[in-house]
Formats: sequence, C-alpha cells, structure tokens
Amino acid sequence: MEINLKEEILRLKKEKGAIILAHYYQRPEIQDIADAVGDSYYLSKVAKDCDEKVIVFCGVKFMAESAKILSPEKTVLLPAIDAGCPMADMADAEGVKELKEKHPNAKIVCYINSSAEVKALSDVCCTSSNALKIIKNIKEEEIIFLPDKNLGGYIQEQVPEKKFIIWNGFCITHKKVKVEELEIAKKLHNGILIAAHPECEKPVRDAADFIGSTGEIINFVNNNSNEKFLIVTEEGVLHQIKSKNPEKKFYIPGGGMSCVNMKKTYLKDVYNSLLNMEYDIKIDEEIRLNAYGALINMHELRR
Ligand code: 13P
Ligand code: SF4
Repeated sequence: MEINLKEEILRLKKEKGAIILAHYYQRPEIQDIADAVGDSYYLSKVAKDCDEKVIVFCGVKFMAESAKILSPEKTVLLPAIDAGCPMADMADAEGVKELKEKHPNAKIVCYINSSAEVKALSDVCCTSSNALKIIKNIKEEEIIFLPDKNLGGYIQEQVPEKKFIIWNGFCITHKKVKVEELEIAKKLHNGILIAAHPECEKPVRDAADFIGSTGEIINFVNNNSNEKFLIVTEEGVLHQIKSKNPEKKFYIPGGGMSCVNMKKTYLKDVYNSLLNMEYDIKIDEEIRLNAYGALINMHELRR
C-alpha cells in the first residue's frame, strides 16, 4: 500500500516535535508542507528563535549548518545530504587566512552562503537582505567580502567611502542570466518591471528596476500594482509570488533559472529525514564557537 507522504510527514513532525523550514527556492510541494518559508535571513532567525528541538531544514547545507552553529542544542536535519552550494564551496579557509594576513586591518564579512570553516574566520556574516545595513554599521574602513563577487560589488557601489577586497566567487544559477534576455523581455512585454537578485552580474543588475533578496523580491511584487514582472532569480520563488498575485503576469529569463541543489529535496526525503532523523548536521566545536560569533554579529548588526 502506498503511503500518503504529506500525512506521514505531518504525523512524524508532531511525534518528533519538529519544525520544517523551507527556502523559497524549494519545490512547491516542499514549501507547502513547511511551517515557515522564507529567505536566508528569515529562516536563520526562525531557526534561532524557535522552541522546537528538531529542525528539518529544506534548503542547502550552509543553511542547516548556520542553524546548528546558532543552536547546538537542537537537532538540525538536512533531508538531502548532497544539497550543497557551489558558491559556498568557492571560498576556502586557507585563502581567507592569506587575505587576513595581507589586510590585517580589514573586517571580514562573509555571505551566509559559505562553509562553517570560512564563517569561523570571519567577523560577521550577512545575507543579501541585510548586507548593506551590516557593512554600513561596521566602523572599519576596509572590508574583505566573500565569497560572492556580485553581492560584494553591488554593496560596494552603495558604500563608496569604504575600501573593498572582494573574493571571486559567484552563483552558477544567477550567472547564467544575460542582460540580452532582459532586453528581449522588455521588447516583448511592454511596461514589464524587472526584479533581480544581487547575485546577478552587474549588467543584469543595472538593467533591473528592483534589486533584492528573494523575500524582498516577493514583497516588491506583492506591493506593486504593475501588471507584468520579469523575475530574475531562482524560479522557486514563483510559487509564492503566483499564489499571492493571481491577477499579475510573471516571466522568467529565456534560459530558465533552476538551482539543482535546491531542487534535490523531495517529499520522500523529508519523510525519511523525520523517520530516520537524518542527516544530522555535526560541526566541530571549535569551528562552531568561532562561527557563532560571526552569525550572532549578523543578527546584532542588522538591527
Ligand atoms: P536569499 O534567500 O537570502 O535571497 O538567498 C538566495 C540564495 O541564493 C540562497 O541560496
Ligand atoms: Fe548556491 Fe546559487 Fe543555489 Fe543559492 S541559488 S544555493 S547561491 S548555487
């Protein structure tokens, strides 16, 4: 007999006292069974503040690791163990140490899309929704920003008084979009508004009407009466956008934008995760303690 996965997930969730968190890039059916759906910052805050002792994190590894770093007493489960983030893998601890030696007066700001080891060497973490505020709140003039050169470049443009040393990482999903695709959309759909994620390259950002995190893009669309929008970020966000704005029309760049890692989690994985309490995130305690400082500073400095 085939089991009803949704029902079984809800039953197991109750039995284990768990909360299910899902990023906006997750599959629609995963977003629908989650207790909270959000952008990286929002999910980090929910994971930190929730009372549940078991967190099933439907996202990628750095998200589950960040939750564990902030709440070591909670069991944090990542349903798809191979759901990584190629951008996070582009920054390594050795390289960060070298930069730190070269620029001893710089503050290291690391995008939450990074490994626990890299966070452990950083002064403060950020997400795309709070990077600007955090960098403005740092007194030091010199900033080492990693790993995303696009988010780093976007913030640098808005804080010209600071000196930036920017890592050469990028998101492979957002890098695929070309400005020509935005120009075609503008020609085809008169009056279309373009909302893009700061992980996009500069020519794409420059052609956009709005730049923000996934949550900010969704708010922008919800609060704007325009009829047509081009959404330039991973297409998972369309699930929330379309359900809240049935009267508006949404388009994506011609080539499509899908993050293979975000799409690795299926309902079956969430079920197995709760059933077998897998995959339990573990972090070396020394690394965790150092990374904790950077993540807590993010929550403090964004105020
Ligand atoms: P946000 O949800 O913070 O916009 O992050 C996007 C992302 O790339 C997550 O991997
Ligand atoms: Fe990493 Fe980009 Fe996928 Fe986000 S969308 S998880 S940054 S590869």
